[in-house]
Amino acid sequence: MWGGRFGASPDAIMEEINVSIDVDQHLYAQDIAASKAHASMLAAQGIITASDAKNIAGGLDTILSEIGKGGFVFKRALEDIHMNVESRLSELIGPAAGRLHTARSRNDQVATDFRLYVRDVIDDLDRDFAAFQRALVDRALEHADTVMPGFTHLQTAQPVTFGHHLMAYVEMTARDRGRLADARKRLNESPLGAAALAGTSFPIDRQATATALGFERPMANSLDAVSDRDFVLETLSTASIAAVHLSRFAEEIVIWTSPLVGLVRLSDKFTTGSSIMPQKRNPDAAELVRAKTGRIIGSLTALLIVMKGLPLAYQKDMQEDKAGAMEAFAALTLAVRAMTGMVLDLEPDEARMRIAAGEGYATATDLADWLVRELKMPFREAHHVTGRIVAKASESDLPLHKVPLSVMQAIEPRITAQALEVLSVQASVASRTSYGGTAPANVREQAKAWLKRLEKEQKSG
Ligand code: ARG
Repeated sequence: MWGGRFGASPDAIMEEINVSIDVDQHLYAQDIAASKAHASMLAAQGIITASDAKNIAGGLDTILSEIGKGGFVFKRALEDIHMNVESRLSELIGPAAGRLHTARSRNDQVATDFRLYVRDVIDDLDRDFAAFQRALVDRALEHADTVMPGFTHLQTAQPVTFGHHLMAYVEMTARDRGRLADARKRLNESPLGAAALAGTSFPIDRQATATALGFERPMANSLDAVSDRDFVLETLSTASIAAVHLSRFAEEIVIWTSPLVGLVRLSDKFTTGSSIMPQKRNPDAAELVRAKTGRIIGSLTALLIVMKGLPLAYQKDMQEDKAGAMEAFAALTLAVRAMTGMVLDLEPDEARMRIAAGEGYATATDLADWLVRELKMPFREAHHVTGRIVAKASESDLPLHKVPLSVMQAIEPRITAQALEVLSVQASVASRTSYGGTAPANVREQAKAWLKRLEKEQKSG
């Protein structure tokens, strides 16, 4: 393969550690697109003839369809996708194939291919995350009034609405999508034409190949172009944050569906049974979403470590950028699709949620707020008075709204029957009308605004 310089074949172990075709064959479409752009630019610049360029393009199209149909035999001895394509091209069109590699190197080739690949991944992920948001918004509208316990420290804190809880993930996902879009913007520059590391003496037109491949511009420094993988790192960082968001939601589903908690039920579609315990309904999909996060963060960590301390320019270490990243992107795709499925599938137990929302004196803050509002008590004092009432209620094992008015008045004589009205969970959530608060009216308004936004996006995208 290396022509003049080499007389013998590599050791089997050398080939085994060096080969990347198992992984980079997934870049075939990008590799062929980049080669076509390069060939047509070479012809336009008079570096190769128009007839060679035409043969090269025809041959590359044939290879594209051969690989697409699964009829292509990838050869490990040819190391990677670039050499496999070029070798097949020479079988198909003869010596003209050898002109394709003028003014380029596998170093700028692989950097170009992988940027194109990651760009496609980002676009696909964005669509999946939009579908996830859509599912959340639909369910939030349906459950804008459904009251559930809100937690801090996993202790019942204040009643919230289920719709509000779902909408929290719509916001997180919006930021994840924003980060993906940012990563896309920065990665969308073309390394092609940087050649091995120093550029080339041929009069190439890097703007032309950049434009042909949908890049904003050619990368300005040839050493940087072939040697950085920050675009992979940035996308993996974004993926890791998104996966962390999904894993938190997955964990909530695991908690909610536990019979000990029983706030939500998943259907047969998103649960599995046990081979020994017939009563079991396990939230495996949610557990696996939670677990996939480990792999995604792991591949970010792995590539950070691969890149750390690498001198400029290309080093073979960088070949290790693809397997982990591809695995991470596939895991995230699966995770977001599974979460979308579960969001559409889950059924809250509304009665259980309402009861749970009132447990643990969840409306104590509402009583304190009433004391502040109606009696002009400083909040700290109201907190103290309410605490004493909660202690009394707890002594006699009563929920707050069942504590006799006389008992409350023994602690604070100015409390009236009107105070009892704020203690219901419905009244509590309805009163939380501050911007971003849990009131059903807020939730409905925000969900509707999101629905509009997502529908508009879908139409334009
Ligand atoms: N398979 C290589 C990679 O993924 C392609 C670039 C090889 N370049 C080289 N100088 N050996 O990084």
